Amino acid sequence: MKTFTNVKDLGNLQDAVKEALEVKKNRFGYKHLGENKTLLMVFFNSSLRTRLSTQKAAMNLGMNSIVLDITQGAWKLETERGVIMDGDKAEHILEAIPVMGTYCDIIGVRAFAQFENKEDDVNEKILNQFIQYSGRPVFSMEGAAGHPLQAFADLITIEEYKKTPRPKVVLTWAPHPRVLPQAVPNSFADFMNEADVDFVITHPKGYELDERFVRGARIEHNQDKAFENADFIYAKNWSAFQNPHYGKILSKNMDWTVDAKKMGLTNNAYFMHCLPVRRNMIVTDEVIESPRSIVIPEAANREISAEVVIKRMLESL
Ligand code: CP
Repeated sequence: MKTFTNVKDLGNLQDAVKEALEVKKNRFGYKHLGENKTLLMVFFNSSLRTRLSTQKAAMNLGMNSIVLDITQGAWKLETERGVIMDGDKAEHILEAIPVMGTYCDIIGVRAFAQFENKEDDVNEKILNQFIQYSGRPVFSMEGAAGHPLQAFADLITIEEYKKTPRPKVVLTWAPHPRVLPQAVPNSFADFMNEADVDFVITHPKGYELDERFVRGARIEHNQDKAFENADFIYAKNWSAFQNPHYGKILSKNMDWTVDAKKMGLTNNAYFMHCLPVRRNMIVTDEVIESPRSIVIPEAANREISAEVVIKRMLESL
């Protein structure tokens, strides 16, 4: 595997989930693959889970890891070609990326949507420059338009907890005080559309996601109706994607907060969220603290999704 930015990079999804469950049972069994190999993790944005779980996965595989926080101590990077660099940006990304590639064998990149130029975000401008210029296998640790390591962990979690062969999985928008990207819901839809689940997306009108990820998924604007008979509720906020409102907050309607009454409409559903979560905006204390909340095992599976991806990259070196 040379890149991991979307569900297609995993090939057969059932095989990938099976491999993940095997890795989970034997997470130190592939240590020989990473001997004398180095993972570079490049962060343009903050992280708790991605940083720890990916570093842990690399350690499980016997790798060394280096973490670079671009905003803390590195030179400020220019990303546009043709710019006269007389400002505060001391280094061009077109030198920085190949230099980073010389110090490692595999690179993980976190570079969120910047909401300055929609085309750049949609086309994963920064992540794709790493793929193009580093000379190394590159995986997304959340890009501008996708968070596939999260979605893979989500699918592993659903596989572990499902009680029926084809569970109903509902992705619901929920309110948030700040502008958030669409990366997590995009990748969640990308994976659910390929998984054997009954997938429904519910959101207020105006929050339609990118059709590249939604594809044929059922959209239900009535959240209560969407929740009926659901086996998994996956809550997430995102800002508007469609023009002319790209990157804007259109609603903070607290009627969309996931509470116990709404969970009561479901088939005793499990509650999921990628974390970090704003309590009593996205979900009430009562729901996230309930026995049906699986946000912690979901986060724990980030180690497994990362380990499968890095393992496959090591195998392809
Ligand atoms: N879910 C997730 O990616 O968490 P972090 O932003 O803390 O890495």
